[in-house]
Amino acid sequence: MERFCEKQRGYTLCLSYSAERISSEVERLASAISTDYEGKALLLIVVLKGAIFFAADLARLIRCPIVMDFVKISSYEGTKSTGTITITKDCEIAVAGRHVLVVEDIVDTGLTLSFLLARLHAEGPLSLKVCTLIDKKGHRKVDVIPDYAGIVCEDGFLVGYGLDLDEQYRQLPAIYEVQ
Ligand code: IMP
Repeated sequence: MERFCEKQRGYTLCLSYSAERISSEVERLASAISTDYEGKALLLIVVLKGAIFFAADLARLIRCPIVMDFVKISSYEGTKSTGTITITKDCEIAVAGRHVLVVEDIVDTGLTLSFLLARLHAEGPLSLKVCTLIDKKGHRKVDVIPDYAGIVCEDGFLVGYGLDLDEQYRQLPAIYEVQ
């Protein structure tokens, strides 16, 4: 199938997932989360910066009480993982005794997520699950399976709807593959 591609600031971007597709995935995920956590309160831990738009849209559709916190974990430079994971902003709300849902933009190798989950698990949450907008299944280096996944794909470097390439393209309303 022919895809819409355009050159933007030095890279060719080809449309992968439209704003409509993204919003229907977000609605589906929010509905599943609302059902599963009915009668419970939830701590959403949003992984900065890529998950900002996803988390903002998701949180507004979840029907149970939520509080939100943010972590920043970095392992990428350009389109390649550096393999070195660093926390540049930690959680401020105590995780112990709470139902915790980590909100990610993409699970790729799984290294970032498994690092974060191990840290959070050690703090004694009541439950610990993961919701990711995109599950890039074909790239896993460690065995992590998101509890809630929107779009499942195999490969390709994606930008838009929060996802960046060296801090560019986050604001695009749809998701594009960088050629
Ligand atoms: P992982 O540790 O390899 O699973 O990488 C997870 C993080 O890498 C994500 O939260 C993203 O911030 C970033 N990342 C992975 N793949 C992409 C991509 O295709 N576009 C933009 N960022 C990505």
